[in-house]
Amino acid sequence: MATAFGKLILFGEHAVVHGQPSIAIPLRAVQVSTSITPRPQGDGLWITSKQLEHPLSLSDTQLPDALRYPIELALRHFNITQQPNIEVTISSTIPMASGFGSGAALAKALIDTIADALHQTIDPDALNQLVYEVEKIHHGTPSGIDNTVIVYEHPIYFVKDQPIEPINISTPMTLLVATLPHATSTYITVGDVNRLYENEPEHISIVFHSIGDIVRTARQALQNGDPLLLGKLMLDNHHYLQTLTVSDEQLDQLCYEAINAGALGAKLSGGGRGGNMIALVTDSTKANVKAALLANGAATVIETQIG
Ligand code: MEV
Repeated sequence: MATAFGKLILFGEHAVVHGQPSIAIPLRAVQVSTSITPRPQGDGLWITSKQLEHPLSLSDTQLPDALRYPIELALRHFNITQQPNIEVTISSTIPMASGFGSGAALAKALIDTIADALHQTIDPDALNQLVYEVEKIHHGTPSGIDNTVIVYEHPIYFVKDQPIEPINISTPMTLLVATLPHATSTYITVGDVNRLYENEPEHISIVFHSIGDIVRTARQALQNGDPLLLGKLMLDNHHYLQTLTVSDEQLDQLCYEAINAGALGAKLSGGGRGGNMIALVTDSTKANVKAALLANGAATVIETQIG
């Protein structure tokens, strides 16, 4: 049995693809789990999942790449040319395309499960590299933050192609995470931001750098336990994400309603244009904020702790 949690980006999405820092945490409220049962000799590898109408063989061309690719990469990593005779069952509570890293979490759980079936171990750095390879088919030009936070399961300060810096958060704080009824593939929003940057390099470069400054200050605020400053930084970050065209009317409205209901800060999280948004709340404001989010079209509201 293998599991992988979802993830939440707290600060710095999109700018992280262009070299700026970003902060992400594991989202333990949602997860993918996989288990293995033996199949008769010669059957090869089969996959069962709610996403599939019926079990499919790894050799079946109908098998989605998101399932096939991690398994093939894992087999290649362990130099296995003949499929093991097993059935892999996948169950997931991570909504797809909601900004919770469903693709990376699925890849991590599948690779771990194949390692398990082969009585092998894979170290986190090698696992992270394989999950990153899978991310490329989901996102095109991923920064690597999703696979990294999902593989290491720790809050991280992340800069593309730099060593990972774990963050220790001194004071626990509460976030509400609202999922929206609509989502846009990260592949599309990342591509649109790339084009925006190509068309207006000077202006967008200032936006990326301003987001980078927010992330550096947010890291200090998380380490010092300063929720008031964090709330303000979330709003500033959301404002720059609007400039990058990755917010939308409902994300803006949910952020506005969360603040009106007493949240210390709110912003979209992840790829944007739907997906999810986060609001920083206190014990005394969380019920009001949750009610306001649900009254304004949030599909679900998850409560999670940072720190
Ligand atoms: C997606 O979770 C985060 C983005 O910054 C894309 C990436 O970093 O690869 C939008």
